[in-house]
Amino acid sequence: VIEPLSSSNKYQVGPTSRQLPVGVFDSGLGGLTVVQQLFKQLPWESIIYFGDTARVPYGSKSVDTVRKYAIQIVRFLEARGVKLLVIACNTVSSVALEVVAEAAQVPVIGVIEPGALAAAAVTRNHKVGVIGTTATIRSGAYEKALQQLASHLIVLSTACPLFVPLVEEGWLDHPVTEQVAREYLQPVLQQGIDTLILGCTHYPLLKTILHKVAGNGLRIVDTAIETARQVKAHLGTLRLFSPQQSHPQHFFYVSDFPQKFEEVAARFLGEPLSNVTHISVENY
Ligand code: DGL
Repeated sequence: VIEPLSSSNKYQVGPTSRQLPVGVFDSGLGGLTVVQQLFKQLPWESIIYFGDTARVPYGSKSVDTVRKYAIQIVRFLEARGVKLLVIACNTVSSVALEVVAEAAQVPVIGVIEPGALAAAAVTRNHKVGVIGTTATIRSGAYEKALQQLASHLIVLSTACPLFVPLVEEGWLDHPVTEQVAREYLQPVLQQGIDTLILGCTHYPLLKTILHKVAGNGLRIVDTAIETARQVKAHLGTLRLFSPQQSHPQHFFYVSDFPQKFEEVAARFLGEPLSNVTHISVENY
């Protein structure tokens, strides 16, 4: 998970590092839910985002493939210059956090630990549900993180592979999505979970429908919000906050053509995006 930031001398953090952007990456556009939270919680920070839209989805791919892709992206973002890397993608965070942290020259934050910490803090009956892609659930990363935090926690996980395409289709409040959510959630709800971790970039957009299916009593942990909080905490610890008078500049890169990304991005980010640049990272 997170490197021991304060005691590590691996990172070359100089006075100019503060001006550098925070690098954020994802398998596609879902990571914009994390960017949205970074904009909210750290409005003065510049952000450089890479979405691997040519190779999405990662959630159904092998560990080796996801690791290979992640390392290429890290090399690209570091070549552009970043002060910290955020793995917005739950799948990459689940299966490649260690290799990314090893390869990177800057501190790396994934989404698993922030989500697990929040869930462990809010559950009252110690039964936590986790939903995510097939790769994320198969990895058991959330279970491991939760059990490390509190060994008495009971974790019930279930993969929800249909959610990503439904969200990208914009079916956020659609009877089909509600039906799918019922099918997926019923078994974990029957086990009496009181907390549910949204272990995928896309799921924050399904909060309304998930509450409809599970009732308002369910505590939903939005890993995008929790991850942005952790980014803020780490930038503070490392004295890497951008000078607040600076004007943030944001850069968006994708590996496939930018048009579709721009169209769907508005839904994830809550504001329109232009100036998205196409880049291939395969040679990094
Ligand atoms: N970004 C991925 C995640 O959070 C979802 C999309 C994909 O499967 O690549 O797991």
